Amino acid sequence: MNHKITLLFCTALLIVTPTVTAFQHNGETLPPPRKLTEEQAKVAADNYQKYCALCHGEDRQGHVNDHAPSLRSKSLMESGVAHQILRPMSYGRKGTAMGGYLDEVGGPMTLDETWDLTYWLFEQAGVERLKFSTNPVTGDIKKGEQAYLENCTTCHGVNGEGVTAPALGNQSALAHNTDEFIRHAIRNGRQDTPMIAYKDKLPAETIDNITAFLRSKALGWKDEKTILKALPKPEEYVINPTGEDPQFTLTEGKYITSDVLHKALLAKQRMVLIDTRVTSVWQNAHIEGSIPFPYYTDTDINNTVAGIPKDVQIVAYCSCPRAAADYTIKKLAKLGYTRTAVLYEGIFGWMNQGFPVMRGDIKGIHD
Ligand code: HEC
Ligand code: HEC
Repeated sequence: MNHKITLLFCTALLIVTPTVTAFQHNGETLPPPRKLTEEQAKVAADNYQKYCALCHGEDRQGHVNDHAPSLRSKSLMESGVAHQILRPMSYGRKGTAMGGYLDEVGGPMTLDETWDLTYWLFEQAGVERLKFSTNPVTGDIKKGEQAYLENCTTCHGVNGEGVTAPALGNQSALAHNTDEFIRHAIRNGRQDTPMIAYKDKLPAETIDNITAFLRSKALGWKDEKTILKALPKPEEYVINPTGEDPQFTLTEGKYITSDVLHKALLAKQRMVLIDTRVTSVWQNAHIEGSIPFPYYTDTDINNTVAGIPKDVQIVAYCSCPRAAADYTIKKLAKLGYTRTAVLYEGIFGWMNQGFPVMRGDIKGIHD
């Protein structure tokens, strides 16, 4: 009853003094989520090191590869648990290096493991959960665009594509992130990262305008159900088994370009193409003939290499453009596979140059 009255009173206040709406978070918190058992915490910590540390850093600090954001900043962890953490982890962010890790989309983790890892990240961060509203933030989209172009493009890109920072125009991100989550990030920045707190630099109204502008880019996204494609069998690993050996000239001892790889594939030369990203993104789009060989292949590596002869040329690629592929060929070298090369531009560079990829069972989709 009391609560209701306070609410009414606040609403009235907001109506008479509209500037209050453009705002500080009201400080309301949510109770902490369930606590992990010791065993769950251990599995989550191991999963983190195995699957996430490559880009987000051993200590969750972010920015180790691909400008992967910090997973311990106060403003993210107090505003993102569970869904703003769980969803990118489970389904990935299409078109970025962040793949999906849930088994449903072809990733290596079960539903329980993704939840546990979310809560583990929260426990590690040691913050409180803020309660956010799901109401839209209203603002002037045109003015927001202007302010965005003046303040944000050096890192986030003119089209929100992300240059050294997350892709703010990304449809998967906009579909999951609420307006208040976005505004909270702009106002408070992300601690210990290049993202500063704009509440000290821009008027509250301008931040609302930018939030509304970003939201206006979310139209048109719809979720598609992933149909999993069967993984290649060991006897299918070698492409063109009777073809000639490609005599690649490697730059810096390991790199080839998309153009060179494409020509070798057209000439039906013999090689093994390994896709070192999380398997779910192989499901989305991959270079024809490639086998999923994710960077975290470790305990099962001997099974995975079983179909690969030692004398065949191996070409590794990722989206990064190179981090996961570089990392994987180092592991292969330890097993005696030294005829390795890395696709310099990664799969996005390959697609940007118009070379074909496969998705599910459909050929030649560029997205
Ligand atoms: C100097 C580079 C830089 C500038 C300029 C910059 N940002 Fe960022 N921004 C970043 C980085 C880096 C991150 C990721 C930080 C992290 O969590 O590690 C980020 C994160 C964010 C996020 C959180 C995204 C998410 O999914 O968690 C939002 C929202 C954001 N920035 C909006 C803006 C807006 C709006 C502006 C302009 C007013 C801006 N940024 C200017 C570098 C920048
Ligand atoms: C190959 C590099 C890479 C790996 C491995 C990776 N990520 Fe990411 N992750 C990224 C990038 C890049 C982004 C930002 C994408 C964007 O929105 O532009 C990101 C974004 C995220 C976000 C959204 C954060 C935010 O500020 O909105 C979460 C949460 C996340 N990753 C969790 C994970 C977890 C958990 C794992 C391990 C299971 C993982 N990631 C593995 C590269 C990676």
